[in-house]
Amino acid sequence: MNLNGKKLIVTGASSGIGYGAAQAFRRAGALVFLADLQGPALHKAGKDVDAAGVAACDVTIEADCEALAACAERAMDGIDGMFHCAGVADQVARAVDIDIDTWQKIVDINLRGTFLACRAVGRILLAQRSGAIVNVSSIQGLGAAPRRHAYGPAKAAVAHLTRTLACEWGGSSVRVNAIAPAYIDTPMVAQLKADKKIDVARLEGRTPLARFGKVHEVTSAASFLLSDAASYITGVVLPVDGGWSAFGGAGEVASA
Ligand SMILES: NC(=O)c1ccc[n+]([C@@H]2O[C@H](COP(=O)([O-])OP(=O)(O)OC[C@H]3O[C@@H](n4cnc5c(N)ncnc54)[C@H](O)[C@@H]3O)[C@@H](O)[C@H]2O)c1
Repeated sequence: MNLNGKKLIVTGASSGIGYGAAQAFRRAGALVFLADLQGPALHKAGKDVDAAGVAACDVTIEADCEALAACAERAMDGIDGMFHCAGVADQVARAVDIDIDTWQKIVDINLRGTFLACRAVGRILLAQRSGAIVNVSSIQGLGAAPRRHAYGPAKAAVAHLTRTLACEWGGSSVRVNAIAPAYIDTPMVAQLKADKKIDVARLEGRTPLARFGKVHEVTSAASFLLSDAASYITGVVLPVDGGWSAFGGAGEVASA
């Protein structure tokens, strides 16, 4: 994928898909500016990928997102796009047992954070009348699952927000797309496995490609959507899910 000379922000860049994206974008020729919660992992990631800079940023805080956009623009002498990857997983509980403060926190990080990051970076892209943003939804935002009452609805809203921004900003040549991954081998999923919150065999059995995804399989989709090869694509929510969202049968794919 050719991202030669592109100046890209990556949020959630300390870990998992965001960290993998920063590496992939650099390999494809982009400059990157990394953002995540404050901590040694962010600075290590910045060094690992030879980033133009890093910023500690809680995406739920408006001032942090505005400062991120300003710092990245200064450090890279411009911004061409953003891969907004910061997010957290669900508490996985029955609706009647949900702790509402945890529910609100998950919605805020996944949805409010996406809006604030898009708005802060969008101001710069709109003024220059060019740029691309890729957000991260999820298969949980495409189809409903029991016990996913914060994450799923928040990721569904991320998909819809992506479309509303695409419709509003297209006239200024700013593209906004999203990817919707299924289960990808990252620290977030390792934690779900360790906490026994997911049944790997059943999930793989329900996936046409019969396995979890790899980080590079997600970042290649994000690279495409940020690249000029996708210059006429906006408002799309692209499943990167091994066929998960295509399957409508009962039980396991193999026996359906
Ligand atoms: N891994 C999967 O299977 C999967 C599937 C579908 C969607 N996703 C989405 O992909 C994205 C990345 O997930 P991952 O698996 O790489 O997770 P991860 O936990 O490895 O990385 C998420 C990163 O987001 C950061 N983050 C959390 N809250 C933040 C905040 N308030 N402000 C700034 N940064 C914050 C974390 O510090 C972390 O570095 C998330 O949006 C997640 O919902 C992941």
